[in-house]
Amino acid sequence: MDRRGFLKTLAAALAAGSARVIAVEFDPFPPAPRLGKPLSPVGERSRFEAHVRRYISPNLPSLHTGAAFAPISELDGIIHPGGLHFERDHAGVPEIDPKKWRLVIHGLVERPLIFDLETLMRMPTESRIYFIECAGNGQNGYREPPEPTLTATRSRGLVSGAEWTGVPLRILLEEAGLKPEARWVIAEGADASAWVRSIPIDKALADVLVAFRQNGEALRPENGYPVRLVVPGWEGSIQVKWLRRILISDQPAMSKGETSEYTDVRPDGTVDAFTWVMEPQSIITRPSGGQRIELGFHEIRGLAWSGFGRIARVEVSTDGGRTWQAARLSEPVLDRALTRFTFPWRWDGKETVIQSRAIDEKGNVQPTREEFFRRWARNNRYHYNAIQAWRIRSDGGVENGDPPLAGTRLPPLAAGGCGGEVLDG
Ligand code: CO
Repeated sequence: MDRRGFLKTLAAALAAGSARVIAVEFDPFPPAPRLGKPLSPVGERSRFEAHVRRYISPNLPSLHTGAAFAPISELDGIIHPGGLHFERDHAGVPEIDPKKWRLVIHGLVERPLIFDLETLMRMPTESRIYFIECAGNGQNGYREPPEPTLTATRSRGLVSGAEWTGVPLRILLEEAGLKPEARWVIAEGADASAWVRSIPIDKALADVLVAFRQNGEALRPENGYPVRLVVPGWEGSIQVKWLRRILISDQPAMSKGETSEYTDVRPDGTVDAFTWVMEPQSIITRPSGGQRIELGFHEIRGLAWSGFGRIARVEVSTDGGRTWQAARLSEPVLDRALTRFTFPWRWDGKETVIQSRAIDEKGNVQPTREEFFRRWARNNRYHYNAIQAWRIRSDGGVENGDPPLAGTRLPPLAAGGCGGEVLDG
């Protein structure tokens, strides 16, 4: 069979949903390969991949506060490369000389301590794979009516997975010796906002890491170089970057980042503070908004995660939510880490809506939009985890398939340069 015939047959097989490789082109006399690029001390991505980059909204009034989304529409896997891990800054990225870096632990302790990086790195360490997610992830879901041109990256790209290596915070606190009245760990960053968040002592002793490695190498500056907190399963803003100070207290700091920001509005107008755990999420990244598909076979691919533990199940619907089937979870399925799911599907060319929902090992189920807004106000800004639907149009184009909500439209209480790319009322 000639090349043209082969491609025609392959196309027919793909269209029929039964792709089989039936011939391979083989040239027995290929031209001599050209001498390639020489050895290099640091590898770079292929120049043909330059378009795969973090998304930064053109609506931001400043590039020093806001968020850059991980390009999840174009990535696969549960570990994100350091340079594509999502980024959320409140006052720019400080440049910290690791030789001058210090961490102070003081307050309600027997022995106030000061660590330099070398001393910290001599302590016992652990490496664990976790997701980190901005509490503002999904904030574009508060838009009403839903924005048709939403992409997977702009819908849920304020999450990333990485392997973090560091010293368990418990070890440092035991070294300092907690006084009996110690209740809160107040962490402060060295950025220009002196970002402060309070962590209950039980969580601090349970599983928090003082991390200095991200995927085996030093943290990226925009992810906290040289040292950050990793607070498994909890909102990103409590995982203080550029960590420089830990104050042990009997009460929380009530900082800007836990009062005017990162608090959540209920439908009756009351506000919850200290909403820490990230609830179950999933998103189909392929096919997803802005992409275009052909007739025939597709492997639906996506990510799921939950701050409560492992993902137990992901269900996929390809008929607008009438029926749901279990997706396949790719190993490893780790505690509070991104989990990949896949689902084989044949598109018949008719308009339809596809969507996924995650269920974690504690039985928490990712809600529909209607269910989500029964629990949280329409003008809330954080912790949006409703199901994201994608409409496949009959021309193969993919767009936001979220249903509009009944009732009054309310703008968020305040603009936030986080997951909503500055919601403009
Ligand atoms: Co919260």
